[in-house]
Amino acid sequence: MNNNGLHRKKDSARIVWDSKPRRAPNPKDIEFQTAEVVIPNLETAGQLPMSFRDKLLGEEELDKQKMNRLIWGDNLLAMQALLNQGYEGKINLIYIDPPFDSKADYSHKIKLGETEFTKEPSVIERLAYKDTWAGGTDSYLDMLYPRLQLMKRLLSDSGSIYVHIGGHVNAYVRLLLDEVFGTDNLINEITWFYKNKLQSKLSQFFPKDTESVFVFAKKYGNHQFHHQYIKLDEPRKQNKIKWDPVHKKTVTVKDEAGNVVYYQSDQKLIGQMWEIPRVNSMAKEDTGYDTQKPHELLERIIKAGSSEGDLVADFFCGSGTTLALAEKLNRRWIGCELGKVGIQVARARLVEQKSKPFLVENIGNYQREMIYLGGARIYEMQKIILKLYGAEPMANRKDLGVRKTEDGMLELVYCGYPDRAVAAHKVEDLATEAQTLDGAGYKRLVILAWDYEYNYDELLQTRLRPGYGGRARKSSDIKTEIISRQIPLDIYEYLKQAKSEEDIERLSDKVKFLEKPYLKLQKPEVKGSSVTIGIEKYVLYDFPLGSGKKADEDREALLHLVKDNFAILIDYWAVDWDYDGLTFKSQWQDLRGLGRKTKVVTTKKEHAYEKSGKHTIAVRVVDIFGNDATATMEVKL
Ligand SMILES: C[S@@+](CC[C@H](N)C(=O)[O-])C[C@H]1O[C@@H](n2cnc3c(N)ncnc32)[C@H](O)[C@@H]1O
Repeated sequence: MNNNGLHRKKDSARIVWDSKPRRAPNPKDIEFQTAEVVIPNLETAGQLPMSFRDKLLGEEELDKQKMNRLIWGDNLLAMQALLNQGYEGKINLIYIDPPFDSKADYSHKIKLGETEFTKEPSVIERLAYKDTWAGGTDSYLDMLYPRLQLMKRLLSDSGSIYVHIGGHVNAYVRLLLDEVFGTDNLINEITWFYKNKLQSKLSQFFPKDTESVFVFAKKYGNHQFHHQYIKLDEPRKQNKIKWDPVHKKTVTVKDEAGNVVYYQSDQKLIGQMWEIPRVNSMAKEDTGYDTQKPHELLERIIKAGSSEGDLVADFFCGSGTTLALAEKLNRRWIGCELGKVGIQVARARLVEQKSKPFLVENIGNYQREMIYLGGARIYEMQKIILKLYGAEPMANRKDLGVRKTEDGMLELVYCGYPDRAVAAHKVEDLATEAQTLDGAGYKRLVILAWDYEYNYDELLQTRLRPGYGGRARKSSDIKTEIISRQIPLDIYEYLKQAKSEEDIERLSDKVKFLEKPYLKLQKPEVKGSSVTIGIEKYVLYDFPLGSGKKADEDREALLHLVKDNFAILIDYWAVDWDYDGLTFKSQWQDLRGLGRKTKVVTTKKEHAYEKSGKHTIAVRVVDIFGNDATATMEVKL
């Protein structure tokens, strides 16, 4: 009680900023879509956890909850989805290294032979960066605060979180953590110190050579913690200590005569100051990802805060250092990353180290979620997308519009539905309709889609062959030219900005509907029980290299390189030798590689089958810019 007879609160100090969110986010019913089950090592493929859902489908299904997961998308949605799927209190250790360098940008360097290209950041990445920093520290805290609240819910009662922060927001983040986790739950503030700092005598400050890692427990005292040691070059004399239960503190052990008791030790307990070199471009572990953290740092954190079999998560996983180390140390893991480059690097790392099978997932209904979050309906959004492409939507059809090209030709434009792959048969129908629509018909049909069905190119080619479909089609063999384009995945960000006709006009120059890459497989060669498959062609019509003189030069140089060998464009390709039509299980992969160790992928692969009969082979190609293309084929042995 104070002098006025009022109760005074204790520990009420809080960090406050104008836009501080009032309510914590809730779990959300969002599904994850499996893009790929990656099986880097066939010897561990038998460990794929299956659950038998005979009532529903009568077939075996992957038990995803038991698998390691690499999730592509915004971690806010990913965590809301995980909470909804029963992950509350299930994660033993979280490490995060959120972006904190306001000068960092998301463009990535790609090295092909002697030439280096800069891939322009996607709008998702640019906006994540812009949203995070638009309002300076305020918007950074707006971003981090709700995410920390979700992480707390995901942590187990004995769990702990390691938050890696450098630069100028340290103090704010520490206060935020105090608020979310409680000051009583602070375990440590670790200082990571590296001797191999960037040196510049021109700067007006001491060169940066430290970063902080704040460590909080969900419930201090209940938390899992294992001391870590450094090996000493020579054994050293150390004084013995013990716990004094009466005074509740550690004390030095003394003999009966009162002398301090010593012992020889060849290791030293690690304290709060960790000296570990930064990853430099010459290091063996370097992946070429700008903000990659050292193995040693993550190894220490994972060993200190978890045990074998525990679940470790990193929701800003970047190049996947945490996941790679968790895998190596026999922990289970979940990683989430917004940028495609990060996902590609993380997958490559995990494949190279022959990890156990893991999932690469997308946040399902992502597009829909984003559109609804922006307060729009699907048909309204289709109209805006048509307009952004420069087409005038038709009055009586929600998904069709007409665009007048520069040379005065009229093209029919179709806008697909979010989260629904456009199928070849749909395009065939549209093309047939286009021949006669509006009297004169249209000479060109443009498809704008988020995604295309597996094998789209091949299926469409078959369907467009003269005479396909029997007599009914013969009379109307399709002459309309078809161009299949991709709706940029970040379209919702443009939709948010497109409030008026003027906005749409202004934005229509910026939104790029790149042509879908084209993948063609060779005819498989069958010899006995063995099949050889190959990629015949991979064509990328547009390179996302931005604009300006340098970008134009890069584009020229790249076209030149590609002319001799299309395989230089391929970052990763994988094969499912027995595709079930539902989930792509990659049982073999080839990679361009990481950091300085890149090579051109092979384009052929032989496989020996154990069972004869019919097999469906699926191939998935991911190029250096993050585009995906898939194709399937049948073989009979
Ligand atoms: C500093 S880097 C992490 C580097 C990582 N520790 C490593 O060793 O590679 C931060 C990462 O967070 C990602 N990121 C930023 N906002 C995100 C969000 N909302 N959801 C998921 N990832 C995000 C960025 O794309 C970036 O790769």
